[in-house]
Amino acid sequence: MAGKSLPTYREIVHSTDPAIRRVHDLVRRTFHSNKLIGIHEWRDSLREQEAGLWTDIRWHLQIAEHLGRVVGVASGMYLGNINMGVVGYLAVSARARGLGVGSRLRARLRTSFHRDARKLVGKPLEAVIGEVRRDNPWLRALVRNDRVLALDFKYLQPKLRPGDKPVSLVLYYEGIARPLRRLASARIRTILYTTWRRIYRIARPLAHAEFRRMLKDLEGRAFIGEVPLGDLPLPARPSRS
Ligand SMILES: CC(C)(COP(=O)(O)OP(=O)(O)OC[C@H]1O[C@@H](n2cnc3c(N)ncnc32)[C@H](O)[C@@H]1OP(=O)(O)O)[C@@H](O)C(=O)NCCC(=O)NCCS
Repeated sequence: MAGKSLPTYREIVHSTDPAIRRVHDLVRRTFHSNKLIGIHEWRDSLREQEAGLWTDIRWHLQIAEHLGRVVGVASGMYLGNINMGVVGYLAVSARARGLGVGSRLRARLRTSFHRDARKLVGKPLEAVIGEVRRDNPWLRALVRNDRVLALDFKYLQPKLRPGDKPVSLVLYYEGIARPLRRLASARIRTILYTTWRRIYRIARPLAHAEFRRMLKDLEGRAFIGEVPLGDLPLPARPSRS
Protein backbone atom coordinates (compact mmCIF):
# COMPACT_ATOMS: atom_id res chain seq x y z
CA MET A 1 0.00 0.00 0.00
CA ALA A 2 1.37 3.41 -0.96
CA GLY A 3 2.41 5.81 1.79
CA LYS A 4 2.88 5.22 5.48
CA SER A 5 -0.64 6.11 6.53
CA LEU A 6 -2.93 3.35 7.72
CA PRO A 7 -6.37 2.46 6.40
CA THR A 8 -9.39 3.80 8.26
CA TYR A 9 -12.37 1.63 9.10
CA ARG A 10 -16.09 2.39 9.16
CA GLU A 11 -19.49 0.81 8.62
CA ILE A 12 -21.74 1.86 5.75
CA VAL A 13 -25.19 2.48 7.18
CA HIS A 14 -26.94 4.66 4.60
CA SER A 15 -28.28 3.41 1.27
CA THR A 16 -27.12 6.68 -0.34
CA ASP A 17 -23.47 6.37 0.77
CA PRO A 18 -21.44 7.05 -2.42
CA ALA A 19 -18.77 4.52 -1.39
CA ILE A 20 -21.19 1.62 -1.95
CA ARG A 21 -20.41 1.52 -5.67
CA ARG A 22 -16.64 1.30 -5.03
CA VAL A 23 -17.14 -1.40 -2.40
CA HIS A 24 -19.23 -3.42 -4.81
CA ASP A 25 -16.56 -2.99 -7.51
CA LEU A 26 -13.99 -4.52 -5.15
CA VAL A 27 -16.29 -7.50 -4.52
CA ARG A 28 -16.87 -7.88 -8.27
CA ARG A 29 -13.14 -7.88 -8.96
CA THR A 30 -12.51 -10.44 -6.23
CA PHE A 31 -15.21 -13.08 -6.59
CA HIS A 32 -16.47 -15.29 -9.36
CA SER A 33 -19.76 -14.13 -10.90
CA ASN A 34 -21.61 -17.14 -9.45
CA LYS A 35 -21.00 -15.65 -5.97
CA LEU A 36 -22.06 -12.09 -6.78
CA ILE A 37 -25.08 -10.35 -5.31
CA GLY A 38 -26.28 -7.21 -7.13
CA ILE A 39 -25.59 -3.76 -5.70
CA HIS A 40 -29.36 -3.08 -5.66
CA GLU A 41 -29.74 -5.89 -3.09
CA TRP A 42 -27.24 -4.15 -0.80
CA ARG A 43 -29.07 -0.85 -1.18
CA ASP A 44 -32.42 -2.56 -0.58
CA SER A 45 -31.09 -4.16 2.61
CA LEU A 46 -29.92 -0.75 3.87
CA ARG A 47 -33.28 0.79 2.93
CA GLU A 48 -35.19 -1.91 4.81
CA GLN A 49 -32.98 -1.27 7.83
CA GLU A 50 -33.45 2.52 7.54
CA ALA A 51 -37.23 2.01 7.35
CA GLY A 52 -37.14 0.09 10.63
CA LEU A 53 -38.59 -3.06 9.06
CA TRP A 54 -36.25 -5.59 10.57
CA THR A 55 -36.91 -7.33 13.85
CA ASP A 56 -34.24 -9.88 14.75
CA ILE A 57 -31.87 -9.47 11.80
CA ARG A 58 -29.17 -6.90 11.02
CA TRP A 59 -27.02 -6.55 7.93
CA HIS A 60 -23.53 -5.04 8.10
CA LEU A 61 -21.13 -3.61 5.55
CA GLN A 62 -17.77 -2.89 7.18
CA ILE A 63 -15.17 -1.24 4.98
CA ALA A 64 -11.52 -0.13 5.02
CA GLU A 65 -10.44 2.99 3.10
CA HIS A 66 -6.98 4.28 2.29
CA LEU A 67 -6.19 7.57 0.55
CA GLY A 68 -9.75 7.83 -0.73
CA ARG A 69 -9.89 4.26 -2.04
CA VAL A 70 -11.88 1.33 -0.74
CA VAL A 71 -9.26 -1.33 0.10
CA GLY A 72 -11.33 -3.86 2.01
CA VAL A 73 -14.84 -5.04 2.81
CA ALA A 74 -16.54 -7.48 5.17
CA SER A 75 -20.27 -7.97 4.85
CA GLY A 76 -22.50 -10.15 6.95
CA MET A 77 -25.82 -10.67 8.62
CA TYR A 78 -26.83 -11.38 12.20
CA LEU A 79 -29.75 -13.81 12.48
CA GLY A 80 -31.54 -13.65 15.82
CA ASN A 81 -33.53 -16.87 15.41
CA ILE A 82 -30.31 -18.93 15.47
CA ASN A 83 -28.29 -16.28 17.35
CA MET A 84 -25.43 -16.42 14.83
CA GLY A 85 -23.63 -14.00 12.55
CA VAL A 86 -23.08 -15.07 8.96
CA VAL A 87 -20.05 -13.70 7.12
CA GLY A 88 -20.93 -12.79 3.53
CA TYR A 89 -18.05 -11.29 1.56
CA LEU A 90 -14.56 -10.72 2.89
CA ALA A 91 -12.23 -9.11 0.36
CA VAL A 92 -9.10 -6.98 0.47
CA SER A 93 -7.66 -5.34 -2.64
CA ALA A 94 -4.57 -7.10 -4.00
CA ARG A 95 -2.13 -4.34 -2.96
CA ALA A 96 -3.40 -4.18 0.61
CA ARG A 97 -3.26 -7.91 1.39
CA GLY A 98 -1.13 -9.45 4.12
CA LEU A 99 -1.23 -6.31 6.29
CA GLY A 100 -3.97 -7.38 8.68
CA VAL A 101 -6.81 -5.53 6.94
CA GLY A 102 -8.86 -8.71 6.38
CA SER A 103 -8.47 -9.85 10.01
CA ARG A 104 -9.38 -6.40 11.29
CA LEU A 105 -12.51 -6.20 9.12
CA ARG A 106 -13.60 -9.67 10.18
CA ALA A 107 -13.06 -8.73 13.84
CA ARG A 108 -15.17 -5.58 13.38
CA LEU A 109 -17.94 -7.65 11.82
CA ARG A 110 -17.81 -10.08 14.75
CA THR A 111 -18.05 -7.16 17.18
CA SER A 112 -21.19 -5.97 15.34
CA PHE A 113 -22.68 -9.47 15.69
CA HIS A 114 -21.90 -9.49 19.45
CA ARG A 115 -23.70 -6.17 19.82
CA ASP A 116 -26.70 -7.40 17.77
CA ALA A 117 -27.00 -10.55 19.89
CA ARG A 118 -27.06 -8.58 23.14
CA LYS A 119 -29.47 -5.99 21.80
CA LEU A 120 -31.85 -8.16 19.79
CA VAL A 121 -32.06 -11.43 21.71
CA GLY A 122 -30.44 -10.46 25.02
CA LYS A 123 -27.92 -13.32 24.88
CA PRO A 124 -24.23 -13.72 24.12
CA LEU A 125 -23.58 -14.54 20.47
CA GLU A 126 -23.48 -18.30 19.84
CA ALA A 127 -21.34 -18.46 16.72
CA VAL A 128 -20.06 -16.89 13.53
CA ILE A 129 -20.55 -19.00 10.44
CA GLY A 130 -19.37 -18.61 6.86
CA GLU A 131 -18.84 -20.31 3.52
CA VAL A 132 -15.43 -20.67 1.90
CA ARG A 133 -14.24 -22.53 -1.14
CA ARG A 134 -12.47 -25.74 -0.22
CA ASP A 135 -9.37 -24.78 -2.21
CA ASN A 136 -9.19 -21.27 -0.72
CA PRO A 137 -6.10 -20.95 1.53
CA TRP A 138 -8.07 -18.55 3.72
CA LEU A 139 -9.93 -21.62 5.03
CA ARG A 140 -6.64 -22.95 6.34
CA ALA A 141 -5.90 -19.60 7.95
CA LEU A 142 -9.31 -19.75 9.66
CA VAL A 143 -9.13 -23.32 10.96
CA ARG A 144 -5.82 -22.56 12.69
CA ASN A 145 -8.11 -20.95 15.27
CA ASP A 146 -9.35 -23.66 17.69
CA ARG A 147 -12.80 -22.13 17.74
CA VAL A 148 -13.31 -22.65 14.02
CA LEU A 149 -14.81 -25.94 12.91
CA ALA A 150 -14.83 -26.52 9.13
CA LEU A 151 -17.82 -28.84 8.83
CA ASP A 152 -17.27 -32.11 7.02
CA PHE A 153 -20.38 -32.41 4.85
CA LYS A 154 -21.32 -31.43 1.30
CA TYR A 155 -22.44 -27.82 1.63
CA LEU A 156 -23.93 -26.11 -1.41
CA GLN A 157 -24.49 -22.39 -1.86
CA PRO A 158 -27.76 -21.91 -3.78
CA LYS A 159 -27.75 -20.52 -7.31
CA LEU A 160 -27.86 -16.75 -7.09
CA ARG A 161 -29.54 -16.32 -10.49
CA PRO A 162 -31.26 -18.56 -13.05
CA GLY A 163 -28.77 -20.45 -15.18
CA ASP A 164 -26.09 -20.54 -12.45
CA LYS A 165 -25.01 -23.79 -10.88
CA PRO A 166 -25.05 -24.28 -7.11
CA VAL A 167 -21.52 -23.76 -5.72
CA SER A 168 -19.87 -26.44 -3.62
CA LEU A 169 -18.30 -24.82 -0.52
CA VAL A 170 -17.24 -25.59 3.04
CA LEU A 171 -19.44 -24.26 5.82
CA TYR A 172 -17.49 -23.32 8.96
CA TYR A 173 -18.75 -22.70 12.49
CA GLU A 174 -16.77 -20.46 14.86
CA GLY A 175 -18.13 -21.19 18.34
CA ILE A 176 -18.04 -18.02 20.41
CA ALA A 177 -19.53 -19.22 23.68
CA ARG A 178 -17.43 -22.41 23.49
CA PRO A 179 -15.32 -24.08 20.82
CA LEU A 180 -16.87 -27.29 19.48
CA ARG A 181 -15.23 -30.35 17.96
CA ARG A 182 -18.47 -31.41 16.30
CA LEU A 183 -21.89 -29.97 15.68
CA ALA A 184 -25.26 -31.76 15.88
CA SER A 185 -26.77 -32.41 12.46
CA ALA A 186 -30.12 -31.21 13.78
CA ARG A 187 -28.54 -27.80 14.47
CA ILE A 188 -26.93 -27.74 11.02
CA ARG A 189 -30.33 -28.42 9.42
CA THR A 190 -31.79 -25.34 11.12
CA ILE A 191 -28.75 -23.27 10.08
CA LEU A 192 -29.18 -24.38 6.45
CA TYR A 193 -32.88 -23.69 6.41
CA THR A 194 -32.58 -20.26 7.99
CA THR A 195 -29.69 -19.13 5.77
CA TRP A 196 -31.52 -20.22 2.62
CA ARG A 197 -34.72 -18.51 3.77
CA ARG A 198 -33.32 -15.35 5.32
CA ILE A 199 -29.99 -14.67 3.61
CA TYR A 200 -30.67 -16.01 0.12
CA ARG A 201 -34.41 -15.21 0.40
CA ILE A 202 -35.48 -18.56 -1.02
CA ALA A 203 -39.13 -19.12 -0.16
CA ARG A 204 -39.24 -22.93 -0.20
CA PRO A 205 -35.80 -24.51 0.28
CA LEU A 206 -37.19 -28.05 0.17
CA ALA A 207 -38.36 -27.44 -3.40
CA HIS A 208 -34.68 -27.27 -4.48
CA ALA A 209 -32.78 -30.45 -5.34
CA GLU A 210 -29.49 -29.09 -3.92
CA PHE A 211 -31.09 -28.28 -0.56
CA ARG A 212 -32.51 -31.81 -0.38
CA ARG A 213 -29.07 -33.16 -1.35
CA MET A 214 -27.51 -31.43 1.68
CA LEU A 215 -30.14 -32.89 4.01
CA LYS A 216 -29.49 -36.31 2.49
CA ASP A 217 -25.78 -35.96 3.21
CA LEU A 218 -26.60 -35.26 6.88
CA GLU A 219 -29.02 -38.16 7.13
CA GLY A 220 -28.08 -40.87 9.62
CA ARG A 221 -25.24 -38.74 11.06
CA ALA A 222 -26.03 -37.39 14.53
CA PHE A 223 -22.97 -35.11 14.52
CA ILE A 224 -20.70 -33.57 11.90
CA GLY A 225 -17.02 -33.22 12.69
CA GLU A 226 -14.16 -31.34 11.07
CA VAL A 227 -12.86 -31.61 7.51
CA PRO A 228 -9.54 -33.42 8.03
CA LEU A 229 -6.83 -30.73 8.05
CA GLY A 230 -4.47 -32.68 5.83
CA ASP A 231 -7.28 -32.74 3.32
CA LEU A 232 -7.23 -28.96 2.85
CA PRO A 233 -4.96 -27.42 0.22
CA LEU A 234 -1.80 -25.69 1.38
CA PRO A 235 -1.68 -21.88 1.23
CA ALA A 236 -1.05 -20.51 -2.26
CA ARG A 237 -2.65 -17.24 -3.11
CA PRO A 238 -5.81 -17.77 -5.17
CA SER A 239 -6.76 -15.48 -8.05
CA ARG A 240 -10.59 -15.41 -7.89
CA SER A 241 -12.55 -16.84 -5.01
C1 LIG B 1 -8.69 -13.55 2.43
C2 LIG B 1 -8.34 -12.08 2.47
C3 LIG B 1 -9.59 -11.25 2.72
C4 LIG B 1 -7.34 -11.88 3.62
O1 LIG B 1 -7.12 -10.48 3.77
P1 LIG B 1 -5.71 -9.94 4.29
O2 LIG B 1 -5.88 -8.53 4.69
O3 LIG B 1 -4.67 -10.22 3.28
O4 LIG B 1 -5.50 -10.89 5.58
P2 LIG B 1 -4.61 -10.56 6.85
O5 LIG B 1 -3.43 -9.74 6.44
O6 LIG B 1 -5.50 -10.01 7.90
O7 LIG B 1 -4.12 -12.01 7.26
C5 LIG B 1 -4.78 -12.82 8.23
C6 LIG B 1 -4.13 -14.14 8.35
O8 LIG B 1 -4.51 -14.97 7.26
C7 LIG B 1 -3.36 -15.35 6.51
N1 LIG B 1 -3.73 -15.17 5.13
C8 LIG B 1 -4.25 -14.07 4.59
N2 LIG B 1 -4.52 -14.28 3.30
C9 LIG B 1 -4.15 -15.52 3.03
C10 LIG B 1 -4.17 -16.29 1.88
N3 LIG B 1 -4.65 -15.86 0.71
N4 LIG B 1 -3.68 -17.52 1.98
C11 LIG B 1 -3.22 -18.00 3.16
N5 LIG B 1 -3.18 -17.33 4.26
C12 LIG B 1 -3.64 -16.08 4.20
C13 LIG B 1 -2.26 -14.41 6.91
O9 LIG B 1 -1.00 -15.04 6.83
C14 LIG B 1 -2.61 -14.06 8.34
O10 LIG B 1 -2.16 -15.08 9.22
P3 LIG B 1 -1.47 -14.66 10.61
O11 LIG B 1 -2.53 -13.90 11.36
O12 LIG B 1 -1.12 -15.96 11.23
O13 LIG B 1 -0.31 -13.81 10.21
C15 LIG B 1 -7.67 -11.61 1.13
O14 LIG B 1 -6.57 -12.47 0.86
C16 LIG B 1 -8.63 -11.68 -0.06
O15 LIG B 1 -9.32 -10.70 -0.36
N6 LIG B 1 -8.69 -12.85 -0.72
C17 LIG B 1 -9.62 -13.06 -1.83
C18 LIG B 1 -11.07 -13.22 -1.32
C19 LIG B 1 -11.22 -14.33 -0.30
O16 LIG B 1 -10.66 -15.42 -0.45
N7 LIG B 1 -12.03 -14.08 0.75
C20 LIG B 1 -12.24 -15.03 1.84
C21 LIG B 1 -13.30 -16.01 1.54
S1 LIG B 1 -14.89 -15.28 1.49
